[in-house]
Order: sequence, then structure tokens, then C-alpha cells
Amino acid sequence: MLPAPDEVPWSALVNGNEVSVRIESNAILLDVLRDKAGSLGTKRGCDMGTCGCCSVLIDGVPRLSCLTLAQEASGCGITTIEGLADGHHLHPIQKTFTECGGSQCGFCSPGFLVVISALLEENPTPNDTEIKDAIEGNLCRCTGYQQIVDSVRVASEILASGDGVEDSTTAKSDPHPSYGGN
Ligand code: FES
Ligand code: FES
Repeated sequence: MLPAPDEVPWSALVNGNEVSVRIESNAILLDVLRDKAGSLGTKRGCDMGTCGCCSVLIDGVPRLSCLTLAQEASGCGITTIEGLADGHHLHPIQKTFTECGGSQCGFCSPGFLVVISALLEENPTPNDTEIKDAIEGNLCRCTGYQQIVDSVRVASEILASGDGVEDSTTAKSDPHPSYGGN
């Protein structure tokens, strides 16, 4: 029988909050974020690096948390989906995902949103090729991707207009209304 891994201290700034916990030395970042740092928005899809659902930002860079040893991110700033909004103010890409249909079942959305937020931080006016390159590691089984690309383009326009914040307490219309009760 293999010996149990050692426990080690781990700390990081998760969405601006200092998190200090003990973890197994071989713990995966996705597990630490979900089980010890309260980020249930970080999703486990494939658990093998192919879907992008688990994407987070480590010091601003998109990484797959299912393929990252937690110790690699020790001492870093980690942004998860819970850290994108500024209080009640949604990030522009959160606003446009709701308005353009970028999210349907929503399971993939946290991964897309953090990756796109990093794209817009680096390049506020990406063209379609740059958008598609940025999200090539994220899979969505629902939208067909065009609504996601549209969402990024509209978010880019919001950023360019300087109107980059949205109060999330404002009621929104349903972007996926049901038709005829079916
Ligand atoms: S859960 Fe990490 S890439 Fe799918
Ligand atoms: S919205 Fe359902 S998988 Fe992307």
C-alpha cells in the first residue's frame, strides 16, 4: 500500500481573499479551490485537460486547474468565476453572455468567462480570429459558439465605450424564453 501524501501548508490570494489551508502535497488545484476555497463555480468537466470548464486565472494567466498542482499556485493570485464581478457590478462579458445567449445550460460558462476576461484584459478589441484562438481550449455542447463570439464582440464594444460596469441588481429579461409552452 502506498503511503499517504504529506500534508503541507498552502496559501494563495483567491479572488482577493487570503486563503490559508493545509493540503495534501499532491493535491490538484481544482480540488483545493472547490473543497477548501469555496469556489464551487470552478467546474469539473473532463478532469483531463480537454474541456476548459475548470479554467482559472493564476496571476492573470488562464490555466486548467484540473492539470495544475495546487502547490504550483501557492502564493499566487487566483481568479475564479466568483471573482470576475466587482461587487454588484458584472464584468462586461458576464453581462453580454446573458444578453447574447453565450450561456445556455451554463456548465461551461465559468471557464469561458475567466478565459475571455483575460483576453479582454490583454486585448480589449480582439477580432474574431483572436477570440476563437483564445477560446479554442474551451468546449461548449450547447451554444454552437457563435453566441459566445458575439458576446465577446459586444463586451469589447462596451469596454471601448468606457461603460464597462453593470449593476447586477437590475432585473434582466430572459435571453432564452420558452416558446409556446413546449
Ligand atoms: S475539467 Fe479541466 S479541462 Fe476539463
Ligand atoms: S452552455 Fe451548455 S455546455 Fe456550454
